[in-house]
Amino acid sequence: MSIVVTGATGHLGKHVVEGLLEKVPADQVTAVVRDEAKAADLAARGVRIAVADYDAPETLDGVFSAGDKVLLISSSAVGKDRVAQHKAVLDAARAAGVALLAYTSAPGSLTAALADDHRATEAAVLESGVPYTLLRNGWYNENYTENLAPVLEHGAVVQAAGEGRISTASRADYAAAAVAVLTGEGHENATYELGGDTAFDFTEYAAAVSRASGKEIVYNAVPAETYKGILTGAGVPEPFAAILAGVDESIAKGELLITSGDLSRLAGRPTTPITESIEAALKG
Ligand SMILES: NC(=O)c1ccc[n+]([C@@H]2O[C@H](COP(=O)([O-])OP(=O)(O)OC[C@H]3O[C@@H](n4cnc5c(N)ncnc54)[C@H](OP(=O)(O)O)[C@@H]3O)[C@@H](O)[C@H]2O)c1
Repeated sequence: MSIVVTGATGHLGKHVVEGLLEKVPADQVTAVVRDEAKAADLAARGVRIAVADYDAPETLDGVFSAGDKVLLISSSAVGKDRVAQHKAVLDAARAAGVALLAYTSAPGSLTAALADDHRATEAAVLESGVPYTLLRNGWYNENYTENLAPVLEHGAVVQAAGEGRISTASRADYAAAAVAVLTGEGHENATYELGGDTAFDFTEYAAAVSRASGKEIVYNAVPAETYKGILTGAGVPEPFAAILAGVDESIAKGELLITSGDLSRLAGRPTTPITESIEAALKG
């Protein structure tokens, strides 16, 4: 019996594995990775490593065992058939008889196209009969704070989110919630709407970057089409730019404002304010 984390060498996965290692012995943790070399440090610490690819279902044979608790971290391959990728993991988990499958989904309020794969995966999870936990993760602070270079260069935060408010949290916060579910009891067939304790709009975000950087930064609210054009002009592939513009339209409608309190409740501590992540990013 193990706690199994897919996407374990990704940004979120790394936080989850570190959080697990603070709570359970390393030999009770399995990291599912595509590239074993990226997990050498984990292997050295006693974590079991399983090499598998969502695109090759046969590689998932033997990864899971009866009684395992599994965290399926959603695939980053937006534009590919992510639902098929997730179903391959779900099928292998069901066949093995796992005790729980937790899935990193998107907020139930999100209508943007990006949510389609998550809704379809959730439906497959429910249909499978496998005990599940839906971790409907809101947006990461890092989606913004890892992209400060153009903001500082142009003195502007450019988004198509109007005056919409968004409640983000750090990846570490979402990871802490996942760790609580994987190591705790009573999360079977629960759905959590996860987001930050505090919300901001992009005028406030620009002001926060201004304060932290000492540079004048304004919020330049543009229409979704204009934003898409700016992104493609900067080299973002058109389909992905359309997805990001769609997310901003959802933010404008308040769809990424999460008020459930589930995240800080599960993590057992307040979430990380955006200001803290801005300061951390500027320190580099
Ligand atoms: N809530 C948000 O704001 C937000 C933002 C961005 C993404 N997301 C979603 O949340 C997930 C986790 O976020 P993150 O920041 O940790 O993303 P990330 O760093 O890109 O990690 C994605 C993980 O998925 C793994 N992966 C991708 N394709 C795979 C495949 N075919 N087979 C097996 N593993 C595969 C990657 O493996 P490698 O380590 O080998 O590359 C990586 O470990 C993302 O994948 C995405 O679905 C959410």
